[in-house]
Amino acid sequence: MLTTLIYRSRVSPETGQGNVHKLVQHALDKNKANSITGILLFDGTEFFQVLEGEEAIVNALFNRIATDQRHSSVVLLMQDYSAYRRFQDTGMRLFDVSSHTEESIIEDILNLSHFKGSYLQDDRIMRLTRKFIGGIGLHITSPEFNPSSWYLESRENFEISSWPAPVPEQPCQFALQPIIDALTGKVSSYEALIRSPSGGSPFEMFQSIPADRLYLFDIETKFYAFKLAKQLLKHNEKLSVNLLPGVLYSIPGAVNILIQQISDSGLRPEQIIVEVTETEAIINQDVFHQALKELRVAGIGLAIDDFGAGFSGLALLTKFQPDKIKIDRALIEQIHLSGVKQAIVRSIAQCCDELGITLVAEGVELMEEWYWLESTGIHLFQGFLFSRPSLNDTGIIRWPLMR
Ligand SMILES: Cc1cc2nc3c(=O)[nH]c(=O)nc-3n(C[C@H](O)[C@H](O)[C@H](O)COP(=O)(O)O)c2cc1C
Repeated sequence: MLTTLIYRSRVSPETGQGNVHKLVQHALDKNKANSITGILLFDGTEFFQVLEGEEAIVNALFNRIATDQRHSSVVLLMQDYSAYRRFQDTGMRLFDVSSHTEESIIEDILNLSHFKGSYLQDDRIMRLTRKFIGGIGLHITSPEFNPSSWYLESRENFEISSWPAPVPEQPCQFALQPIIDALTGKVSSYEALIRSPSGGSPFEMFQSIPADRLYLFDIETKFYAFKLAKQLLKHNEKLSVNLLPGVLYSIPGAVNILIQQISDSGLRPEQIIVEVTETEAIINQDVFHQALKELRVAGIGLAIDDFGAGFSGLALLTKFQPDKIKIDRALIEQIHLSGVKQAIVRSIAQCCDELGITLVAEGVELMEEWYWLESTGIHLFQGFLFSRPSLNDTGIIRWPLMR
């Protein structure tokens, strides 16, 4: 299958202009042998390359290019499939963007192609090319972008593996995982994650619950999370709990049950954040939204969980605006390498900023992911990079420090 791949990257300080020409000469010979065609734009700081060819060959080449030391911050902008090549006879042509006008470069690029008509002018590849030449669009983070100048440090042994034992005769257990403000060194809240009676996974836990008891089980077990939080959290610390939306519209008086549980455990409603995720279509919208209002009136915080996954997205946000939105981990994974994820998360961040909603990135596992998110203006994080969920405990946190 014929594929077109586009990426951007930043030239390494030791790669001089002469080396760029040498690189292109070598690439030209190799590309001819591999039936790869395309263009390479260079503005003195960043590269923008279009590669066309057989999918397996282009992917193998991109994997080599991505680890080439002559540049860094390689971000994939698009990969698409098409019936024809745009640059049929061009093994690899270098364009020096800094010393020519935008229009003359575009004209040269269009002249390289057999498809000079409006079709090529209007397509996505040309639009991205124009954006690069015009110096706008999907920028890589600032030249100071350097996650390796940071390291992680914990006040206790992070690798410690002995946690408190499961509480006997409880229908479930809870593990706590902190949501942290990485640069100020503060814990924003702890999320209570359900575990089986022996401390096993949520899957193991829910497997043993019949479908018709699920909502009742979900709400009844919240009490154990509140009890644990009362034991472990300080007076001003907050606890996030997950709630299936079905609980709010299927169980009569669900909000009052929660308020009673919070009070019985000795916590205050202001310490609790209820995270809802729309894992299934919400059948009774009116009752659901009425319950959300009642939670707010009781002083309980609200968050949309897994934002950007399944049903949990823009439609839910138009109906209610929570205090917090947690971006789904699928959007966070390898975000430093994906132009598509970067564009989506940047627009979510802008939307939340305009609406005064706090954004949390969950599932952060790599220093590069954290650094990209932090540079984009997201400050709250949850993930293995900083702290693992700890059974019946608040766990140990690793904080990022500058070298
Ligand atoms: C910005 C940039 C663009 C590159 N473009 C190509 C290319 O189009 N084709 C290619 O074979 N190598 C290209 N390379 C070089 C590859 O990363 C890699 O060094 C090369 O494919 C390995 O060649 P070799 O097997 O002859 O050592 C590029 C490198 C950089 C930094």
